[in-house]
Amino acid sequence: MSEVKMEDIVSLAKRRGFVYQGSEIYGGLSGTWDYGPLGVSLKRNIMNLWWDMFVDSRDDMYGVDAAILMNQKVWQASGHVDTFTDPLVECGECKSRFREDQIDTSKCLNCGKEGSFSEARQFNMMFKTNVGPVDDESSVSYLRPETAQGIFTNYRNIVDSFYPDLPFGVGQVGKAFRNEISPRDFVFRSREFEQMEIEYFVHPGNWEESFEHWRQQVWEWLKALGLPEDKVHELEVPEEDRAHYSKRTIDFEFDYPIGRKELLGLAYRTDFDLMNIQNSAGKSMEYTIKGTNEKFVPHVIEPSFGVERALMAVLVSSYREDEQNGEKRVFLALPHHLAPVKYCVSPLLKNKPELVEKAREVYQALKKKHGNVMWDDNGNIGKRYRRQDEIGTPYCVVIDFDSLEDNTVTIRDRDTTEQKRVTISEITE
Ligand code: GAP
Repeated sequence: MSEVKMEDIVSLAKRRGFVYQGSEIYGGLSGTWDYGPLGVSLKRNIMNLWWDMFVDSRDDMYGVDAAILMNQKVWQASGHVDTFTDPLVECGECKSRFREDQIDTSKCLNCGKEGSFSEARQFNMMFKTNVGPVDDESSVSYLRPETAQGIFTNYRNIVDSFYPDLPFGVGQVGKAFRNEISPRDFVFRSREFEQMEIEYFVHPGNWEESFEHWRQQVWEWLKALGLPEDKVHELEVPEEDRAHYSKRTIDFEFDYPIGRKELLGLAYRTDFDLMNIQNSAGKSMEYTIKGTNEKFVPHVIEPSFGVERALMAVLVSSYREDEQNGEKRVFLALPHHLAPVKYCVSPLLKNKPELVEKAREVYQALKKKHGNVMWDDNGNIGKRYRRQDEIGTPYCVVIDFDSLEDNTVTIRDRDTTEQKRVTISEITE
């Protein structure tokens, strides 16, 4: 496979209705993206896969869906109000602002003026807002910068409702917001994005075992996304680069066309968050081992997954170009379980009512079985195949005159382009 270029991914994503610039019609809003019909389907397939793997199919996991707006005390106790910052520098000439750790020049990237940057100051990345009609300090809230805190603040509720054995975990999928100084690289660094997070509560003496367990689970996840193993790298994050709450972090990095960058993180958060809540809310976060008097505040292993970065890695690793009958072909070799459209159904000719009728029958039967099935009777068959290849549809089914006689159809494979004859019941039952 030749090197995939970022422009190819961005262009295909826009052209075929995966991802559009947010508020594009008004000139856009930097760091925001809208998901089109195929993008939303791909994104949901990724999130559903995650939920199936890490919540539904496990006995030790619970799900939550906490409010995005939370009491400001959550973010004071968690340390985000004081420390969730990036270093910001401003150009004295054109007033453009940059993240200091992302520039390696003393020349302004906007106006080119040499030595015009201010001293760095810490810029808090949380979006601040006010809840209710009174605009004062007591009504301040923030759009959550991580879904994790909605889990920690519900830890006591879950323990009291379900009496889970330790270790157990809580998973959440939802929006997170960060006022990134320089959003960039397509959806990679967005201001509004989606996280899939697990807080896994463990006995303090067993954190290493659980850390290792989740490290292996992360690799299972990467396999399920269809990412080539040699494109993913573990980075043991040194202490000075770790988040304020972490005693150990492994970043799982992916070879994106923009370089090797963080895809997801695995952190040991100790009892940092539960202790902060205990101290600031004045409620016990202790867990008592059943049948004993052993009490302690659990420690936490946190695998934290970003949906957009997973989606971008999936698009990059499934993007292919080859040549068919002397013509360049672009296709997405998406794993079948992630493909937004599972089958495309066409009548050979759209002006033959008997073919259309039969094709509609097959279409309905496939739709009943697979949900996301597309109907396409535009242009010639070759063009239909190209369109479906570009959006990663694994199979195209064509109904022709023989289908009327013997109930067989032509089914074409996206990756090999091979066509074969199968009976309708073989694919619909
Ligand atoms: N609760 C821990 C936490 O939020 P993080 O490393 O800051 O840790 C976790 O974020 C994941 O969220 C990242 O690995 C990435 O996949 C995703 N993520 C973070 N910031 C993002 C952004 N601005 N745009 C898109 N995804 C982002």
